[in-house]
Amino acid sequence: MLVTRASRRDTDEIRAFYDGLEWGDVKDGTFFIARQGPIIGALCLIALEPDVTLVEDVLVHPDHRGRGIGTRLVEAAMNNKGGPMYLCCHDERLAFYERLGFRRIDQDDLPESARRFWRDDGALKDSYPPDHVHHFMRAR
Ligand SMILES: CC(C)(COP(=O)(O)OP(=O)(O)OC[C@H]1O[C@@H](n2cnc3c(N)ncnc32)[C@H](O)[C@@H]1OP(=O)(O)O)[C@@H](O)C(=O)NCCC(=O)NCCS
Repeated sequence: MLVTRASRRDTDEIRAFYDGLEWGDVKDGTFFIARQGPIIGALCLIALEPDVTLVEDVLVHPDHRGRGIGTRLVEAAMNNKGGPMYLCCHDERLAFYERLGFRRIDQDDLPESARRFWRDDGALKDSYPPDHVHHFMRAR
């Protein structure tokens, strides 16, 4: 299994990978992929500013979860790009990202560019019902 930064040649296969898992739009960013022949995992890094990078759409194929591929994807992205990284996740993913060095931060403490991105994406607190909780996290 290979974890690597994606090239332009991988674009169509990345789109097919997300589509196949009904994950939604492929965002404009730098992708990291895990391959075992076909793509079995992907992650998108979005650099909003020199010191504001978002980790988005970390996705491993259900048949391959729990084998460390998600961890390797996040580590590859963090090794490739310096500076603070931010992400948005649900309760069940907190432990996964905490092991990778992310810590929870309040939505109000996000840099303005990140808050704008997630506002446009409908991920901020005022965009969803109170029982649907999103957490924001920062590493470095
Ligand atoms: C989150 C995700 C990318 C992690 O990928 P992964 O390759 O399973 O990650 P790892 O193997 O490195 O370890 C992750 C966890 O999976 C657990 N695990 C073990 N077997 C598992 C299985 N069959 N399926 C899912 N998780 C399993 C591990 O114990 C570990 O525990 P944690 O929940 O406390 O973190 C993957 O579960 C996924 O694609 N989920 C759906 C999309 C998603 O929620 N993405 C995150 C958006 S913020």
